[in-house]
Amino acid sequence: MADYPDLVVVGAGLFGLTVAQQAVEKAGVRVRIIDVRDHIGGNAYSYMDEETGAEIHKYGAHLFHTSNRRVWEYVNRFTSFTNYVHRVHATHDGVVYPLPINLGTINQFFHAALTPAEAKALIEQQAGELAGTDPENLNDKGIQLIGRPLYEAFIKNYTGKQWQTDPAELPADIIKRLPVRFNYDNRYFKDTWEGLPTDGYTAWFERMIDDPRIEVSLGVDFFDESQPYNKKALTEAGVPVVYTGAPDRYFDYALGDLQWRTVDFKEVRYAEDDHLGCPVMNYSDADVPYTRAIEFKNFNPERRESQNHEKTVVWQEYSRFARRGDEPYYPVNTPADKELYQRYADLAALEKNVVFGGRLGTYRYYDMHQVIDSALDAYEQRIAPMLAANARD
Ligand code: FDA
Repeated sequence: MADYPDLVVVGAGLFGLTVAQQAVEKAGVRVRIIDVRDHIGGNAYSYMDEETGAEIHKYGAHLFHTSNRRVWEYVNRFTSFTNYVHRVHATHDGVVYPLPINLGTINQFFHAALTPAEAKALIEQQAGELAGTDPENLNDKGIQLIGRPLYEAFIKNYTGKQWQTDPAELPADIIKRLPVRFNYDNRYFKDTWEGLPTDGYTAWFERMIDDPRIEVSLGVDFFDESQPYNKKALTEAGVPVVYTGAPDRYFDYALGDLQWRTVDFKEVRYAEDDHLGCPVMNYSDADVPYTRAIEFKNFNPERRESQNHEKTVVWQEYSRFARRGDEPYYPVNTPADKELYQRYADLAALEKNVVFGGRLGTYRYYDMHQVIDSALDAYEQRIAPMLAANARD
């Protein structure tokens, strides 16, 4: 029989890395992490672009932010953070505006010098167009929340591109609220702490699992029965597993497919030092086919000395519904999806010796700090008891 470790973690994303680190530190067990990809870090993985000196976030821009002290103290054990503060701009009708919509955006848009109270009164008056109605689609909901002019300029076409669907055809409950700030604060996140890992994401993740009791196998699919750490073999041997892949895949799509949206990235290189003048530019109009563009060099101004000043790289993001085999990014989360997920979760609860977790495993959008928090909880509440029960068997 194969010499199995005490715990196999499927997925080297932040959920898997956190539970592996906790299992070694708290229970002193031997852990094997497997990932079908050729790198650790899951969707938060990044790599250095040699030509430009930019740190490219391979699966889309990742900014760390949290107000959770436990998570902040935990991540600071493995990395320090730069003092990067996230700010986003939007291009509409040939003009660049600050986001999220704030007093600066409003005054620039209406060519005005409104005070906070005046701006509030104006937006309320414009939103009054559909006051008292119960919007059935996203378009009407958007107008009801912030009024037609701002909705049509900044939300309508951007959302239409994100969903590849006319907002008039989208359900109203996709948006609960649209934040509008009646001051000039254009800091994107409101969390207590934010920044980017000083030495990059990969150095952070490597430090989390820098222990001889943790071994990593990359390019290994849990469902490939030709490799030793596969679902069938581990189930038969009763080895404890933490599974951070998709639940529909785990059950061979027996109840149907969960729906996801994905993003395609188009890389464009410029013989310029700085193309956008900022890290993230949203494109609010329908005539630009992508939703936003990311210029990675601008996430790390503190590395300017080591960056190439003649070249830069920008990634344009195109959003669409995922098919099987695409990277699943954002859960679509219709009522039917939620019901289907619940049925898979009921099956998952019956799997002895397997804990499902992470964004894929629980069909939820999590930010990094949220997934770390949920992994710390999952270790205490479900994984430690599973390891203890197995040690007794
Ligand atoms: P993650 O997806 O990272 O890891 C799961 C791993 O399991 C993957 O590496 C996968 O290959 C592996 N796996 C799956 N099936 C397998 C199988 N059968 N066999 C072996 N391995 C398998 N958060 C934030 O805080 N700030 C931000 O700015 C952003 N930005 C952002 C942009 C985009 C486009 C997305 C989609 C997401 C973000 N996030 C974010 C969220 C962030 O990416 C997320 O919180 C973490 O990646 C979640 O970590 P997990 O470990 O749950 O999943």
